[in-house]
Amino acid sequence: MIEEIKGVATGSSSIILGDDAIAELLTAIHKFDKVFLLVDENTNQYCLPKIGGSQNGFFDFKIIIPSGEANKNLKTVEQIWKILIEENANRKSLIVNLGGGTVTDIGGFAAATFMRGISFINLPTTLLAMIDAAIGGKTGIDFDDFKNYIGAFRLPDMVYIVPRFLESLDERQMRAGFAEMLKHALVAGVELWNAIQSISQVSLDALIPLIPAAVRIKTDIISRDFTERGERQKLNFGHTVGHAIETFLLGKGKSILHGEAVAVGMFVEAYLAKEAHLLPEEDFAAIRDLIKKYYTLPSFETNDLSEIFHLMKYDKKNEKGEIYFSIPNRIGHCLIRQTFTDGQIAESLESCLLKQTGIKKEPNQARTDSRSG
Ligand code: GLY
Repeated sequence: MIEEIKGVATGSSSIILGDDAIAELLTAIHKFDKVFLLVDENTNQYCLPKIGGSQNGFFDFKIIIPSGEANKNLKTVEQIWKILIEENANRKSLIVNLGGGTVTDIGGFAAATFMRGISFINLPTTLLAMIDAAIGGKTGIDFDDFKNYIGAFRLPDMVYIVPRFLESLDERQMRAGFAEMLKHALVAGVELWNAIQSISQVSLDALIPLIPAAVRIKTDIISRDFTERGERQKLNFGHTVGHAIETFLLGKGKSILHGEAVAVGMFVEAYLAKEAHLLPEEDFAAIRDLIKKYYTLPSFETNDLSEIFHLMKYDKKNEKGEIYFSIPNRIGHCLIRQTFTDGQIAESLESCLLKQTGIKKEPNQARTDSRSG
């Protein structure tokens, strides 16, 4: 069975959802002059065979890029542009991005910039890409240490969400995607949040039925604010802290998936909101318990937390030197452009993520009170 979600944001872009969506893709590509399929090493090996591999003849050229966020850079885009030029791509050519968020971000950006913009279609293969990265027209690459700093808003012509791709995903990847689903629920989807309470694990059977609701939350928001002037910023809940943690750890050669970093970021930012009396205690407790059920929180030394705090100053939402947060004020509702003092932010990072040494420092309240009296 397939389902269509039309008019995603301002273009004629649509989303087709269902295991049979591939048949629709094969029809849709006929109008293009040349079709370039972009895959990474993983999706080439595990996902392309699920749609008939090279045999079904739906593409003219296949471009294989190395897997992983570390390759989401200008060098990879240059290689894609070179191949497009070598193979005489033109304005009627199409790029089909088969992969997770890294592939859809890079492929979308290569398409958005080649000859000032050619068509592209996203075929997301991870849960995270299906419900977030591949929809909504954010394309881009990382530059130096700055995540997604170079990019363009450009909608894919179509997105085909084929849940059977998820069969080759390991549990860690599913959990990473689940973090963005949780985020959609927390900022604008109390019904999805309630549905999430009834699952006990991040299995395919549990999560596939929740994909349409998660997609609709995102498409509703971007239909009102495509270029993130306001409401779309809600979708950045967890990302101010999350991006900084991701950049910090990747810079140290440690492994963390984007969704895992977002889960940690949501925890810290919800704590910050609770401490500032913006989020009720019981809502924070529910968020805390759910995040702790599915994710292990990392712990850091004091110096690491200072570096993470410093990295937050480069967040793309910031204005006039202020760190802007998007944080829920109750489950299913989110405030944007919230600012806090440096002390509040540092205290939240420490309370949630400081490595426990077993050594504690406690002021003697009696002495402090008697001195001030
Ligand atoms: N990933 C958040 C957004 O697309 O706005």
